[in-house]
Amino acid sequence: MSLAVRYSQFGSPDVLRVVDVDEPHAGEGQVRVAVRAAGLNAYDYKVRRGGYVAEHALPSGQGAEFAGVVDEVGDGVDDVSSGDEVLGYTSFAAQAEYVVVRAANVAPKPAGLDWAVAAGIGLVGNAARRSTDSLALTADDTVIVTAAAGGVGLLATQFARATGATVIGTASEPNHDLLRSLGAIPVAYGDGELERLRAAAPHGYTAMLDNSGPASVRIGLELGIAPSRINSIVDFDTPGIGNVGGGRKSRAELVELARQTVTGELVFPILATFPLARVADAYRRFEERSGPGKIVLTVP
Ligand SMILES: NC(=O)c1ccc[n+]([C@@H]2O[C@H](COP(=O)([O-])OP(=O)(O)OC[C@H]3O[C@@H](n4cnc5c(N)ncnc54)[C@H](OP(=O)(O)O)[C@@H]3O)[C@@H](O)[C@H]2O)c1
Repeated sequence: MSLAVRYSQFGSPDVLRVVDVDEPHAGEGQVRVAVRAAGLNAYDYKVRRGGYVAEHALPSGQGAEFAGVVDEVGDGVDDVSSGDEVLGYTSFAAQAEYVVVRAANVAPKPAGLDWAVAAGIGLVGNAARRSTDSLALTADDTVIVTAAAGGVGLLATQFARATGATVIGTASEPNHDLLRSLGAIPVAYGDGELERLRAAAPHGYTAMLDNSGPASVRIGLELGIAPSRINSIVDFDTPGIGNVGGGRKSRAELVELARQTVTGELVFPILATFPLARVADAYRRFEERSGPGKIVLTVP
């Protein structure tokens, strides 16, 4: 037997349990990973609350990303070995002692890369990379990144800055110094946001990377940004804007995110870690949300 997170009804973190399950084993083309850390994502709790995915069978596991050590290799796998330290993707299964995935879903973890960072960067990195690329930003752009201190926002801020664009990031006050250190101009969200954004870029804006939702997109439109230059990973209803988010995950992309993080090219703070047994507390902290960076479970 081995431990895994499960829930049998939709709801708050209170429904989360860590239970004994049959130990999974690697089949053909698969590897088994002894998990050392597993990232938390908003997607997890949106699904767990029951409103996000049309059909989601219960009982369910949880967690889409992990880092750990390969300890079983199935037939036909010749590019991953037992003992390899890896980071990877899965669906509803990462928060467990063991996860079984296709070999192509894992990438080598650089020796110097922290387990928590390795477990937390994949999903938000994929969404931030694809959303930023979708706007083909250049040094001529002035772009608003909303929720710039969140998991996706921090990386989108850095990817956007790397194009030479001027980046204005919305975040609460305690996160402003971090955004400044990444080369962005911070602006507080909430009452008066539109006026503060106007004042922060008197020449106006050319693009928006939205990680927050319809209210933020509305502000972008009021600031005169063309809908075709707004990409949102949260607002799927406003007509005319882009919705390029997570997708087409690959080993090559994980390798690149890991390289950029371990070399310090990307800053990726870890806000908190919790042991697997405290998964409910970890999500309570995550769903209350204060402070920048990623929350990650550690195993065992
Ligand atoms: N479509 C996709 O493929 C995709 C992929 C990944 C994520 N997402 C979605 O994108 C969103 C962000 O994900 P995440 O992982 O970055 O979440 P996260 O790490 O929880 O960050 C959320 C951030 O939202 C900020 N925030 C709260 N209220 C705000 C407001 N009114 N205006 C602007 N910012 C506000 C907070 O900023 P402060 O900390 O500064 O207060 C917080 O840092 C989630 O809804 C998630 O489900 C979509």
